[in-house]
Amino acid sequence: MISPAGYAIWASMEFETLIIGAGAAGMMCAAHAGPGVLIIDHAKAPGEKIRISGGGRCNFTNLHASPQNFISQNKHFCKSALGRYTQWDFIDLVDQHGIAWHEKTLGQLFCDHSAKEIIAMLRAEMDKAGAQLWLQTEVGEISHNGSRFSIALQREGQTRQITAGNLVVACGGKSIPKMGATGLGYQIATQFGLPVITPRPGLVPLMFSDEKFKPLAGVATPARVHAGDTSFDEAILFTHRGLSGPAVLQASSYWREGETIKINLIAGGDLMPALQGQRQTDGRKALTTVLSQHLPARLVDHLSQEIALTGNIADQSDATLAALCDHLSDWTLTPAGSEGYRTAEVTLGGVDTDALSSKTMQSKTVPGLYFIGECVDVTGWLGGYNFQWAWSSGWAAGQAI
Ligand code: FDA
Repeated sequence: MISPAGYAIWASMEFETLIIGAGAAGMMCAAHAGPGVLIIDHAKAPGEKIRISGGGRCNFTNLHASPQNFISQNKHFCKSALGRYTQWDFIDLVDQHGIAWHEKTLGQLFCDHSAKEIIAMLRAEMDKAGAQLWLQTEVGEISHNGSRFSIALQREGQTRQITAGNLVVACGGKSIPKMGATGLGYQIATQFGLPVITPRPGLVPLMFSDEKFKPLAGVATPARVHAGDTSFDEAILFTHRGLSGPAVLQASSYWREGETIKINLIAGGDLMPALQGQRQTDGRKALTTVLSQHLPARLVDHLSQEIALTGNIADQSDATLAALCDHLSDWTLTPAGSEGYRTAEVTLGGVDTDALSSKTMQSKTVPGLYFIGECVDVTGWLGGYNFQWAWSSGWAAGQAI
C-alpha cells in the first residue's frame, strides 16, 4: 500500500497466507496456495538446501518413493499426501520446465546440470501464482485472535506487522545450523499447544570414541548395516572420526544413543566356499592376503587386531573359516555418538502428526495453522525421499488453503 505522499505504509499489511520458510516445502506450498501469499525467509536466497543437495545436482525425488521409506511415530500419516502428489507429479513438473534429469542408482533422480534449475522452477511457479517473497526477514511475535494471525516481521531495519488468515510453518528442522536451520517450527508448535516429538539428527555419520578407525579413513566397501530392526545394503565409508557412507547414514536414522550397530562385511557373496576353494588352489598364501582379495587390505589389517588371522590359508580348518565368516558377517560396534546437527542431512522427530490432518497438514486445534516439510515428524530415507515429502506435504497444504 502506498500513501498519497508516496511512502510505503506497513502498519496493517493483510495477506491470505503467510508461509515461514522459503525452502522446498514452503516454495511448493506458495505455488499452490492461491492468491494473497507472502513467503518469508531469514536467508539471503530461497532454497539454499536445494542448492547444495545431491552434490549440487539435487536428488529431487525417488522413482520408488512409498510410505515404507519414511520414519514417523505414525507410519500411516504420510500416505495421503504422498499418494495425492507423487514422484510422478513432480517429474511431470520438472519435465514441463525442460529440466534434464537422470537416474543415478536405486531410483534416485538427479538434475543433469544443476540444482539451481529446481530453485528457478519453484520461483517461476511462485511468480505464476503471484506469491510475494521477502528474504532476510526475521520472525518476531506471533499471535492469533481466533480468526487471523498477527505476525511481527523484522525487515530492512524495520518491524512490519502483518496479518494473515493462514500461517504455514515450513522452516525445516535443526540440521546444519550454519545454513540457517533454527528449529523455529518447533517453537511455534509449542506456542500453539501442539506436541513435538523430540528432534534428533538423522542421516548422519557415526563416531567412535577411541579413533580406532582413523588409519582406515577413506576406505569404502559394500556392506549390510543393521540398526534397530532395519538394515541397509550399500557402501560404508571409514572416516577420521568413524563411519559414514550411504548404508551407515541410512542406519543412523534407526540408531539410538548407547545401542550397537551390526555390520555384515560379506553380505554381497558367499565367502565360505570361496575361501575353501582358495585353500585348494592358493594354499601357501597368507590368510590375510587371501582375505584382501575379498575386502579392502587396510580393513583386513585392522580386523587382524581384533581376531587371529595368522598362518596360511591351507592351515585353516573348516571350523576356523566358519568362525571367521561369522565374525565378518556380524561385526558388532558401539558408536560413541553421531556427528550431530552439524552434518546431519535431516532432523528426525518434529511436530507430532497426531496434532495434524494428514490430508491438509492443518492443525486439528488451531484453524489456519499448517506445518509442512521437515519440521513435521515424517523423515525420509536417503535418496530423494525427503524432498518428495517436502513437495507432497507442501502441495497438500497449498491445495487445502
Ligand atoms: P528447508 O530446510 O529446505 O527450508 C527451511 C527454510 O526455512 C530455509 O530456507 C531456512 O532458511 C528457513 N528458516 C529456518 N528458520 C527460520 C527462521 N527462524 N526465520 C525465517 N526463516 C527460517 N533431500 C533429498 O531428498 N535429496 C537430496 O539430495 C538431499 N540432499 C541434502 C544435502 C544436504 C547437505 C542436506 C543438509 C540435506 C539434504 N536433503 C536432501 C534433505 C532436504 O534438504 C530436506 O529434507 C528439505 O530441504 C526439507 O525441506 P523444508 O522445506 O522442510 O526445509
